[in-house]
Amino acid sequence: MGKYDPSRYQIDLNEWPKIVTSELPGPKSRELHSKAKKYIRGLSGQVRLFPVVFEKGYGCTLEDVDGNRYIDFSSGIYVTTLGHCHPKVSEAVAKAANTLMNAHDFTTPIKVRLLEKMMEVLPGDLKGVQLYDSGTTAVEAGLRTCRAATGRYEFISCFRDFHGKTGHAVSLANMTKLSGAGRAQGFYMVPRPDTYRPWWTRADGSLDTEKYLEFYDDFIKNATTNQVAAFVLEPIQGWAGSIMPPDDFFPKLSRFCKERGILLMADEVLTGWGRTGKWLCMEHWGVVPDVVTLGKGFGNGFPVTAMVVREEYADAVDQISASTSYGGNPMACAAALASIEVIQEEGLLEHALELEELFRKKMADWPSKYAIVGDCRVKGCLMGVELVKDKVTKEPFDEAGKLVYQTAFRKGLAWIPAGHILRMSPPIIMPNEVAAKAMDIIEESIAEVQKQLGY
Ligand SMILES: Cc1ncc(COP(=O)(O)O)c(C=O)c1O
Repeated sequence: MGKYDPSRYQIDLNEWPKIVTSELPGPKSRELHSKAKKYIRGLSGQVRLFPVVFEKGYGCTLEDVDGNRYIDFSSGIYVTTLGHCHPKVSEAVAKAANTLMNAHDFTTPIKVRLLEKMMEVLPGDLKGVQLYDSGTTAVEAGLRTCRAATGRYEFISCFRDFHGKTGHAVSLANMTKLSGAGRAQGFYMVPRPDTYRPWWTRADGSLDTEKYLEFYDDFIKNATTNQVAAFVLEPIQGWAGSIMPPDDFFPKLSRFCKERGILLMADEVLTGWGRTGKWLCMEHWGVVPDVVTLGKGFGNGFPVTAMVVREEYADAVDQISASTSYGGNPMACAAALASIEVIQEEGLLEHALELEELFRKKMADWPSKYAIVGDCRVKGCLMGVELVKDKVTKEPFDEAGKLVYQTAFRKGLAWIPAGHILRMSPPIIMPNEVAAKAMDIIEESIAEVQKQLGY
C-alpha cells in the first residue's frame, strides 16, 4: 500500500558501524557477561563466539554497553524484521500494557482487529487461527490439529529441518544436536531437494524433484504404518543455513499430499511475515498450505505467534484444547497488529524484494572469486553463504565459518553463525546503502579469512 521511504531509517555510514574500544568485546561487556555467566547456561553459538552485551537498538542499528556501534544483520534471530523498537510497534505495546495485559482467551477489541487484519493479508482460505507465545508452541498445536483433522498420527519432516525444542518439535528435527532421548513414535524424516547438495539428479546434472517424490511414495508404503497426518516443512530451511528448494518442489509436494489425504503443514515461523518479501514464503510458489505456523517477525520482537489452518480444518482446532495462558494477550495482539500495519503502510514487502536484488548482485561473483565460497542464495532478506574446503567435494569448512563470523563482527556487523554456512537476516527496513555496506563487510571478511587459512 505505502511506499518505502529510506529517510526513515537512514544512518550516517561514517558513524555506523563504529568500534570505539581497543578490544572486542569491550571492558563493560566483558564485566557484565562474566556476571551473567555465573548463572546463565545453555548459551547459543551466536553469543559464545562473540559475547558482547547489547544495550540498545534502533532500526537497523545496535549499540553495546561500551558504545560500539553495529549494523544489525541478524534481527535478533530472524525476529525484529521491522528493525529494533519500531515506534509504532513499541507504542502499541505500551498502550496495551497500560490498558489490559491479560484476559486469558476472552475476546478483546485488539484481538478482533488483529484477526481481521490477518484475514486481509493471508492467502487462500487460511481462516482458523489460534494465537501463541512461541514458535514451538504454535508448531506443537499445528501437529495436534493435523492429528485431529485427519484421525492419523504420523508425521514426515525433512533432514536438517528445525521446528523448535519441545518433545514433538524436536522429533521433527535432527536429534543429535537437540539431545532428544529418541524420536517420538510416528515421526519420520526424509531428504528434501537442495540444489547445492542434490541426492537425485537428471542426466544433465539438474536436480530431479520427481525422484524425491517417488522416494516419499516408497517410504510411506514401506516405512510408515500408512497413517501419515502431515508433511511438516520449513519453506526455506533457516537453521540449516537458508537452504532453498527448487521452484517445482512445493507445488509438486502439495499435489502429492492432496492425492494421499496428507496435510501440508508449512512452518513459516522464520520465513513468514515479510522475511522473504511475501506474507508467506509459500506464496512464492503459489501454494496455500493446510496448516501454517507464524512467529518471530509476527510481533517484531514481542513474543506472539500463531497457528492458522484452512477453513475446512478449522473445526479440528476446537478439538485440541488449543488456548494457552499468554496466547493472544492484548499486548501481543497490539504488537502483531502494528507489525502488519507497518509492513503495509511502509511498502516493506516490495522493499524486501528490492533488497533481494541488491544482495543477489553483491554475491553473484563470490563463488567464482573466492576459493572457499561454494554457494550463495537469497530470497528477500534471507540469505545463506556456504563455505567449503573444496568446491568439488563440497566439504563443509566450519573453521572458516567461525572466523568469518568473528571477523565481520569485529568490523561492526552483528549477525548469525551456523557452522560452515553464513546466515544473514537483516531487517527489511534497511536502506540500500546500509545493506550494501554490510555486504562489503562480509566480503572483506571472507577475503581476509580465506587468506589467513592459506587459500
Ligand atoms: C522454523 C522454526 N520453527 C520453530 C521455531 C521455534 O520458535 P521459538 O524459538 O519461538 O519457539 C524456530 C526457531 O528458530 C524456527 O526457526
